[in-house]
Amino acid sequence: MIDDNFIQVNKETCKRCGQCVNVCRGTLVMGNSGPEIAQNLCIECGHCVAVCPSGALNNTRTPLKNQVPIKKELSISSEIAAAFLRSRRSIRSFNSKAVEREIINKLLDIARFAPTACNSQGISYHVIDKKETLRSISSVIADWAEGNIKSGPLKNSPWVNNTANTIYQYRNSGKDTILRDAPCLIISTVKTEQFSLGRDNTHFSFSYVQLYAPTLGLGSCWSGLFEYCALDKYEPLLSLLEIPKNRVITGGLLVGYPVYHFKRLVDREPLQVTWQ
Ligand SMILES: Cc1cc2nc3c(=O)[nH]c(=O)nc-3n(C[C@H](O)[C@H](O)[C@H](O)COP(=O)(O)O)c2cc1C
Repeated sequence: MIDDNFIQVNKETCKRCGQCVNVCRGTLVMGNSGPEIAQNLCIECGHCVAVCPSGALNNTRTPLKNQVPIKKELSISSEIAAAFLRSRRSIRSFNSKAVEREIINKLLDIARFAPTACNSQGISYHVIDKKETLRSISSVIADWAEGNIKSGPLKNSPWVNNTANTIYQYRNSGKDTILRDAPCLIISTVKTEQFSLGRDNTHFSFSYVQLYAPTLGLGSCWSGLFEYCALDKYEPLLSLLEIPKNRVITGGLLVGYPVYHFKRLVDREPLQVTWQ
């Protein structure tokens, strides 16, 4: 046993049922009077604490007091869950109404619970809700995209015509076809050295945000152009954003109140599954 006491067991209430050991990825073993640390592989997932039927286990790295009892009455049927998941839509027309910062905080708070590789977490959000800054961001993205359509990563993209059209409309329609006049752009960042995993993690986290948004009356859409411009480290864009030097951008999500509401669930390619 190693000399580290982040696991605390109430020996009176622990039934030694072994559930904590079975859900753990290799840190815990069952000892004579309850679970013990075999080796320090703890990734702070909190499963050992969450599964204990008698609340006898505490892990000081992911404390029992921060966990929330699961209410059976809040569970949803598979039919409701499927309809809810299918109803998520990318929103491209936003109301000019500003979104309260309190609501954005509430929206983002759910993203903390998305899965991350080895529970790495570590995503921060930088929210732009000033109209002037949003306008400047669109403007520099348009400059970047024009250059890149001619000679750069966008040139060989399968969506080059869509991008060219977006920029053409931006220049000629008087509408912000880049950030879609959204009142809010949420930028995700991770530590520079965690970029690769962090980008994957960001996709899951933003999925949580996108799914949760309609419950707050909000709509959202990934901003691919923002993302690619940021990933290309386009200096005029980066200098507009107050991102700490040791962090990199992993994604951008537009958020606002939708103008339109969908009446039907769309279809997609048929399910493709193989079995062996
Ligand atoms: C990584 C990623 C980047 C995207 N970039 C853009 C974008 O730049 N502009 C846009 O209008 N939609 C963008 N989308 C939204 C997709 O076009 C949309 O998810 C797809 O058309 C399916 O529609 P749905 O989200 O309503 O189901 C992006 C989605 C993802 C996942």
